[in-house]
Amino acid sequence: MTPYVADPVFLNGQFLPLAEAGVSPLDRGYLYGDGVYEVIPVYSRRAFRIDEHLRRLQATLDGIQLRNPFTVDAWKSLIFKLIDSAPWEDQSIYLQVTRGADNKRDHAFPPASVEPGVFAFASPLVTTAAEVRATGVAAITVPDLRWSRCDLKVLSLLANVLARQQAVAAGCAEAILIRDGYMKEGAASNIFIVKDGVLLAPPKTTLMLPGITYDVILELAHSYGQPLEIREIAENELRAADEVWMTSSTKEILAITTLDGQPVGSGQPGPLGQQMWQWYQDFKNTVMRKG
Ligand code: PDD
Repeated sequence: MTPYVADPVFLNGQFLPLAEAGVSPLDRGYLYGDGVYEVIPVYSRRAFRIDEHLRRLQATLDGIQLRNPFTVDAWKSLIFKLIDSAPWEDQSIYLQVTRGADNKRDHAFPPASVEPGVFAFASPLVTTAAEVRATGVAAITVPDLRWSRCDLKVLSLLANVLARQQAVAAGCAEAILIRDGYMKEGAASNIFIVKDGVLLAPPKTTLMLPGITYDVILELAHSYGQPLEIREIAENELRAADEVWMTSSTKEILAITTLDGQPVGSGQPGPLGQQMWQWYQDFKNTVMRKG
């Protein structure tokens, strides 16, 4: 069986086998989910949009007032070392920074002398099987029970975990989060809809994660002259959409063809989603894989 995590992993200043990696139970990531993370796709051993991912990491660290333990160059050399050591051409790199381990449990920040905890590893990037892409996947809608800084990629993911588990329990691939009558995003993805040939995307607000894949989709839409509107999408528009897609660094673009048990549009992946998938693959092969 292919291992999910490559050895070595990086933990608190050291590269070491996963089996030897351990953290203090007082680490605030463990006690409070007090930390941040990133997931960076790697194609042909090239980290895709690494600067954008590291900028989003910095924005999240700033958002929770946690000092970045590394410079951009130090992050890059750590990431490149993980990529080089892993056996796969296409990978996903996970990075995590926590507020470290104090000698007691106290909600307020620990003294500045407490070092942030850093964990990072490489996994294989497994893209969606062609059979799944051919049919699309099912999703459910759930109330968005998260806090009001969903633009920050923080570790405290309990509401996302519960939403996605609800989807899995219903035999679905994703849960779409609805807040105040509007569709925000998926439990671990951004959501786009298509209506009458127009691609609609919710705007980047504090209630949605600014996806790196989301940006790529918008850029591709612009460069191919695809009509696009960026605005809030009401729940009833989601339900009446011709196409619904989920996007993320690991899922790329995947059609949602059933929503709450009802077919989306024709119930098959739609033409624009298939076109966007092809544009994304072309972009990946001509730009991402070339570095
Ligand atoms: N999730 N929205 C949420 C809530 C997410 O968790 C993710 C990604 C996205 C898409 O962002 P990007 O295109 O930058 O991957 C949107 C990652 C993959 C995860 O949590 O594993």
